[in-house]
Amino acid sequence: MSRPITGATLVAGVAGSPVAHSLSPLVHNAWIAAAGLDAVYVAFAPHADGFRAFAEGLRGGAVRGLNVTIPFKADALAVADRPSDRARRAGAANLLIFEADGTIVADNTDGIGLLAAFAGHDPKFDPAAGPVVVVGAGGAARGAAAAFLAAGAPELRIVNRTRAKADAIALDLGSRVQAFGLAEATAAFAGAAAVINATSVGLTDPQSLALPLHAAPDRAVAMDMVYGRSRTAFLVAAAARGLATVDGLDMLIGQASPSFEAFFGRPPPPVDVRALALAHLQAGP
Ligand code: ATR
Repeated sequence: MSRPITGATLVAGVAGSPVAHSLSPLVHNAWIAAAGLDAVYVAFAPHADGFRAFAEGLRGGAVRGLNVTIPFKADALAVADRPSDRARRAGAANLLIFEADGTIVADNTDGIGLLAAFAGHDPKFDPAAGPVVVVGAGGAARGAAAAFLAAGAPELRIVNRTRAKADAIALDLGSRVQAFGLAEATAAFAGAAAVINATSVGLTDPQSLALPLHAAPDRAVAMDMVYGRSRTAFLVAAAARGLATVDGLDMLIGQASPSFEAFFGRPPPPVDVRALALAHLQAGP
């Protein structure tokens, strides 16, 4: 049953470019409906160099808050008056809250989402149990590395095609982080507790990364931050190798949950949003 939009309806949303494919409106609106809130969650696609002006215009609470996705996460951090420590550490914000006094508060719930995805797979998963490999050195990789470091990972190994970008993250995040080129991935995978694909290599890319999963221990958990209607090539290879797998959809839902709470002051109600999201992806073009 659809609810009427009234003058009191609270607005939240997601800003990205492109944004039409985002699953966040589906997830948040399912929670809004189940919670019976007078609220709506919509998608915004600001101009590529217009994010700052867009966010500035929302000061004072024109909308309650925004999730922020590619390519605006660094801009979102820059526009905030009060960034959280974890947003600063990640160098990116995926959540902005527009306070009534004009203040913009920034947070990063991607790390919570990432760890929640691992915990959903195995509640006993311990992020401090062993070395963690992150493949990739873009914003997603930096955020994943920062989240695992904050959760106590003893060692972070950044593996990237362009070694210099992995070196830059290692320099930034400190002595627990080591950088590797793709040619050195076998050494990086040895003894790993978790291996996370944070590259933008997608679902069925024939150029898909040929990673030395055989070098990872049997107990390693493989995670891909990319998601789609079926398992990514990386997760197919990890499953064939016999590793437990975690997908990016659980991370998406894991970051959405604390975002919902920040917008609406209550945790999301129990709704199987993963099933909804999967059905939506499977019905897609
Ligand atoms: P994001 O900010 O979303 O993480 P990004 O900054 O574009 O995205 O980073 C994409 C990552 O995927 C990079 O680490 C990139 O490697 P390079 O730094 O060498 O460019 C990695 N990547 C993309 N396509 C790749 C491919 N075909 N093989 C290996 N790595 C790839």
